[in-house]
Amino acid sequence: MALADFPRHPLTFGPSPVHPVARLSAHLGGAQIWMKREDVSSGLAYGGNKVRKLEYIVPDALASGADTLVSIGGVQSNHTRQVAAVAAHLGLKAVLVQEAWVDWPDSVNDRVGNILLSRIMGAEVRLDPAGFDIGIRDSWQQAMADVEARGGKPYGIPAGASEHRLGGLGFANWAYEVERQEKELGIFFDTIVVCTVTGSTHAGMIAGFAGQERPRRVIGIDASATLEKTRDQVARIARNTAELIDLGRDLRDDEITVLEGWAGDYYGIPVESTLDAIRLTGSLEGVILDTVYEGKSMAGLIDLVTSGDIPKDSNVLYAHLGGQQALNAYSALFRN
Ligand SMILES: Cc1ncc(COP(=O)(O)O)c(C=O)c1O
Repeated sequence: MALADFPRHPLTFGPSPVHPVARLSAHLGGAQIWMKREDVSSGLAYGGNKVRKLEYIVPDALASGADTLVSIGGVQSNHTRQVAAVAAHLGLKAVLVQEAWVDWPDSVNDRVGNILLSRIMGAEVRLDPAGFDIGIRDSWQQAMADVEARGGKPYGIPAGASEHRLGGLGFANWAYEVERQEKELGIFFDTIVVCTVTGSTHAGMIAGFAGQERPRRVIGIDASATLEKTRDQVARIARNTAELIDLGRDLRDDEITVLEGWAGDYYGIPVESTLDAIRLTGSLEGVILDTVYEGKSMAGLIDLVTSGDIPKDSNVLYAHLGGQQALNAYSALFRN
């Protein structure tokens, strides 16, 4: 089946905006940098990358007759907030398992930002003490069983919507959207930089770009310091998605690139380069990045551009995947 044949339930305003960041490019003195903005592409609870993934998952959820979306993430998960928003938008219920993925001492961590928004949208929020893991969890299966036990019909969406058969389609679609925007703008982005954690954003892009004529680098920046798990998950989802959309060939190993070096030691804990990247992008461009994901991928981009690993004559597209809502739980880092 071609990508265009999969049912898609629109949850975005349309193609996400693409724009140059000239002051950041000039400051770094290398390649020309542009951004594609998933953080401003939907009106559902500030949007973000999961809304795009859910565009392809919602038709399956609705067809199943489910009345409750059940998902899982960290306490400050952007993903669960987007599931809560989509559930509200569709008139469904949401049950969210929020695990202690980040050992972060902020006293309002479980009250502000994403979790606050999920509560406002009427989701049932379950705090769970389990630590970081991108795999399938018992607590999530338990939440589904609980919905059934009280007579509901659950539809499970795993962490980041990644371990879902259709999880890669949203960003395969993104790749084709980029190609159309390039034609309109008269530009070619030879390098894409994207943050990768649960994997299906990056993996979907790889599968989508692999079907296009001109090859390009799709660089995933690890933000969780669990490199082998992430690499395996990205490779598996990219290959499954490529098969699903009838790419017609196997993906080569060299098409799957996850770079390490900017995650620090833990998921959710920013390091100096994360905070530098956030301050630089905020002060030069008025564009806000978060401490968990985009600050780390921007730190990667900054180093790759300044070191010349991404050459000076490149046009780089940075995928801004949203996530600013979690910043509320990190306010102490920016007091001075
Ligand atoms: C803001 C933001 N950036 C990047 C990512 C990473 O995307 P993925 O989990 O698909 O690898 C996520 C979600 O995990 C996110 O919420």
